[in-house]
Amino acid sequence: MDKFNIAIDGPAGAGKSTIARHVAGALGFIYVDTGAMYRAVTWKVHQEGLLPQQETEVAALANRMQIELIPRAEGQQVFVDGVDVTKEIRSKAITDDVSQIASFGAIRHLLVSLQQQMASTKGVVMDGRDIGTHVMPDAEIKIFLTASVSERAERRFKELQSSGIGTMTLSELEQDIARRDQFDQEREISPLRRAHDAVLMDSTSMTIAEVVDEILGLCKDKVGGGK
Ligand code: C5P
Repeated sequence: MDKFNIAIDGPAGAGKSTIARHVAGALGFIYVDTGAMYRAVTWKVHQEGLLPQQETEVAALANRMQIELIPRAEGQQVFVDGVDVTKEIRSKAITDDVSQIASFGAIRHLLVSLQQQMASTKGVVMDGRDIGTHVMPDAEIKIFLTASVSERAERRFKELQSSGIGTMTLSELEQDIARRDQFDQEREISPLRRAHDAVLMDSTSMTIAEVVDEILGLCKDKVGGGK
């Protein structure tokens, strides 16, 4: 099979984005970080001085704004109405409010339909929380990637430090990850859940290269794709 879709879901900081980017690079596929889209809406909400609880106003704003995702070798660049927000959407202020905004039905409806458009041509590696369950239920490959909370906090800490956005301490990150996991798992609409047909991978004691290789191996076995 030439082109197929890969869904990678899992809790915060499990390494989904890094893994998805590498897998996409190896296959020549497009990588889509859907968390960045929820973060982009949250950025705009802050810009406009709205409160994250103002569901109706937040939904109206999301309908008016334009989100662009530009794939780059070093990661996905994110633009909101022409402004590059790639770095800013990783800040603590955005991270604090994003899950609340991602729990609104109107926001999910809007972003999921954009994500489904992106996946319609196939050849997409998409990461998020509901990709295998709602966005691409027919994805040929589904992965549910996890790791222990402390390992995930440490990874995210290093990632943020190396990209110069180290505004959160390790213990703040650990608390944030636990809080968002709970919120994402308990929300009413499209909660974070492993799709019944997703392969569970615990990356706690695996390197990025090992996880990527395992996923590429799965692609070969299941759809004859990959290296
Ligand atoms: O992946 P990331 O940590 O950047 O996602 C930020 C937040 O966006 C998550 O904690 C979750 O609340 C929300 N999200 C979601 N569905 C997705 C991707 C992210 O609800 N597909």
